[in-house]
Amino acid sequence: MAARPPGAQEFVPATADLAVLADAAQGCKGCDLYLDATQTVFGAGSAAATMMLVGEQPGDQEDRAGAPFVGPAGKLLDRALVAAGIDRDAVYVTNAVKHFKFTLPERGTRRIHKTPSRTEVVACRPWLITELDAIEPDVVVLLGATAAKALLGNDFRVTAHRGEVLRLPPSTTGLDFDPQVVATVHPSSVLRGPPEDREKAFDDLTADLRVAAGLLGQPRPK
Ligand code: URA
Ligand code: SF4
Repeated sequence: MAARPPGAQEFVPATADLAVLADAAQGCKGCDLYLDATQTVFGAGSAAATMMLVGEQPGDQEDRAGAPFVGPAGKLLDRALVAAGIDRDAVYVTNAVKHFKFTLPERGTRRIHKTPSRTEVVACRPWLITELDAIEPDVVVLLGATAAKALLGNDFRVTAHRGEVLRLPPSTTGLDFDPQVVATVHPSSVLRGPPEDREKAFDDLTADLRVAAGLLGQPRPK
């Protein structure tokens, strides 16, 4: 038998029902990350959300809880959303990659986050595209380089274009709607930065989220 081509596509059911999609994603073997992680962490939030936030991948706590952005980065994101006047309950939150990638150092048991490879991001993208299709958000916020590159291409640089109002390249996504897009840094980068820079980094993240919030309820420019 020929080897199965990598990627999530064959595991994605043809439905816009988020509960059915989330359930099917639990069985995904589209790349090797399902082997070591606890569970698939699918997106969470209302199907009626007008804003979708995309992170990188679940972290240690998300892997255990089965829900996105519940750990330290999620707490910081929650604070930034409040500061930007965005209701967390009104947004859909997901990740570019749905399984936690980590290494286990020989000493100790703490699992250390590893950045997903381009191959893994591309393998997992069918789930992200399906979430976009099901929700049809007006605004998509890409948190960090992995999410931005997943939808805007590998050459995209967050540092050069953060806070700008962008569009998705139709060739990359195949979507038949056209959300406005804002890329910004990942909330965990605010936590990792030097303590003296944290307040500014938080304010800059909030400012980018405010740009996204300002696009809600506006007619989309042609
Ligand atoms: N970082 C992410 O990108 N996503 C999560 O869900 C948690 C941390
Ligand atoms: Fe499937 Fe994505 Fe998990 Fe890979 S990371 S097994 S493509 S859900």
